[in-house]
Amino acid sequence: MPRVFSGIQPTGNLHLGNYLGAIRNWVLMQQGNECLYCIVDLHAITVRQEPQALSASTREVTACLIAAGIDTRASILFNQSQVAGHAELAWIFNCVARLGWLNRMTQFKEKAGKDRENASVGLYAYPNLMAADILVYRATHVPVGEDQKQHLELARDIAQSFNHQYGVEFFPLVEPVITGPATRVMSLRDGTAKMSKSDASDYSRINMTDSPDAIAQKIRKARTDPHPLPGDPAALAERPEAANLVNIYAALSNSDAAAVLSAFDGAPFSRFKEKLAELATQVIAPMTGEMRRLLADQGYIDAVLRDGAGRARSLAEPILREVHRIVGFVQG
Ligand code: TRP
Repeated sequence: MPRVFSGIQPTGNLHLGNYLGAIRNWVLMQQGNECLYCIVDLHAITVRQEPQALSASTREVTACLIAAGIDTRASILFNQSQVAGHAELAWIFNCVARLGWLNRMTQFKEKAGKDRENASVGLYAYPNLMAADILVYRATHVPVGEDQKQHLELARDIAQSFNHQYGVEFFPLVEPVITGPATRVMSLRDGTAKMSKSDASDYSRINMTDSPDAIAQKIRKARTDPHPLPGDPAALAERPEAANLVNIYAALSNSDAAAVLSAFDGAPFSRFKEKLAELATQVIAPMTGEMRRLLADQGYIDAVLRDGAGRARSLAEPILREVHRIVGFVQG
């Protein structure tokens, strides 16, 4: 069975973009794969985090993943810091990756901004840790969004370079499983910007914890244009806000834009938005309820993470032992 690994940042305010773009895919990939899903708290501290908020977000993301359908018996769900092997292999990869490779990473440039001197070393080495996350399990398939593609290419370079340097065929070349453009959820206020937890306006996103009333209101207020819906997806090319709402509808109903438009051809947005709000509530409300129920029992959440970490450790241990042997570390 192919081994799948993916990571998600422990951030509060999970929204519909996280769900449709990543989480839902993770749930689907459980069929026919051995899956490890990791809440990447080590990655999170590459920028400043409030300790209490970090713990709370880690538990919140865990609850959301379970509520969305991650089966904690079939899949391994855990937080990164509980499995020391990630940090350990990341160090070894720090010694494999070249400065020149990391200098090309566009995410670092974006996140570090103008004050690069003041960025943490961890933020710079972030992609090496990401490579370690995957390769400490020798996972081959990695579902990620478009924005992580460059990091995965780096993981391939690291694997290849390690294999070459030590004359082994040890690490596999990872394959990105890129989630399609249909699940790129954009802001409800601006059809050209990604839906994001850091957008100042809460009206730009549908949070996984929004009430049905809040969902309906946000969709009602979502930016659109004055024209009715067209019958054909090609006509949405210059209408980003309309395209976004249609894509969300399609994703939520497991359908596609063409099918949605043939059902709503000529409809005004008022009617379409009403139906979209109903659909979004149908999908989100049960998850919100389940999340709340799970979060009320912190002991249960922590036990899930502890159990996942234990199972992850037993997969990583023999691989790390082999890495030590290959590198020439003397072992007890
Ligand atoms: N960097 C990823 C993100 O921000 C999260 C991540 C960390 C990840 N380690 C990973 C994703 C390993 C896939 C595989 O979305």
